[in-house]
Amino acid sequence: MLTKRLARIAECIPQCDVLADVGCDHGYIGIAALQRNTAQQVVFIDVSRRCLAKARQNCPPPLLGRSRFVCQDGLADVVADCAVIAGMGGLEILSVLNNARVLPQYLVLQPMRNQYDVRRYLLDGYRVTLDVKFFDGKYYDLILAQRSQTKCSATQLELLFGSTNLARPGRDFVEWLRLEQNKLQQILTNCNDAEVADKLHYVNAALQFVNAQPCDNTIN
Ligand SMILES: C[S@@+](CC[C@H](N)C(=O)[O-])C[C@H]1O[C@@H](n2cnc3c(N)ncnc32)[C@H](O)[C@@H]1O
Repeated sequence: MLTKRLARIAECIPQCDVLADVGCDHGYIGIAALQRNTAQQVVFIDVSRRCLAKARQNCPPPLLGRSRFVCQDGLADVVADCAVIAGMGGLEILSVLNNARVLPQYLVLQPMRNQYDVRRYLLDGYRVTLDVKFFDGKYYDLILAQRSQTKCSATQLELLFGSTNLARPGRDFVEWLRLEQNKLQQILTNCNDAEVADKLHYVNAALQFVNAQPCDNTIN
């Protein structure tokens, strides 16, 4: 039932009392957390009534007593130890966090784009413990962060590519970098675009960096 992407996300959820599955749609991530007892309770949240109804329908009846279904925009007043926000754009994820009354202790994020903005936001208030790229038909980013009192810092390469990817490069991340390098080089053979050249510069720098690190086969 769980795709590789959903399984990777579910595996990252830390042990918690209350998990908020924000933008739950089908609800499979929150359901997996209940089945594995990673979360004692799950608040399934979706802005769409139709999607929330799907989650309720998919939730096995014995788990309904540990589940709450809330139709609303983002976290708002819901208090949770951990929030999983997956399959949304990075800017949508930031809007969910910015409208939360109480920020969760843990975040499991899978931004589809604008990963740079998400990483920059997390520096102030969170410590990133995992930031990996993995392949499941396409490439996805998975970020796990824990609340922190100290302001963290990151290099431009870490903001662009993710700290774990750089420190412990997995096979999928290295493959993605090579594909990006090829794609950007191809574009530059046809046009002289400064933005593309800039992107290629950072991809080359990341490749140089990861080539100096041992490959971590446990990541992918
Ligand atoms: C692409 S689905 C992702 C579903 C699931 N999280 C996953 O990763 O497979 C995005 C879901 O987020 C919901 N959504 C988008 N913005 C939202 C918001 N601000 N608050 C709550 N739900 C939202 C949409 O209605 C949709 O069901």
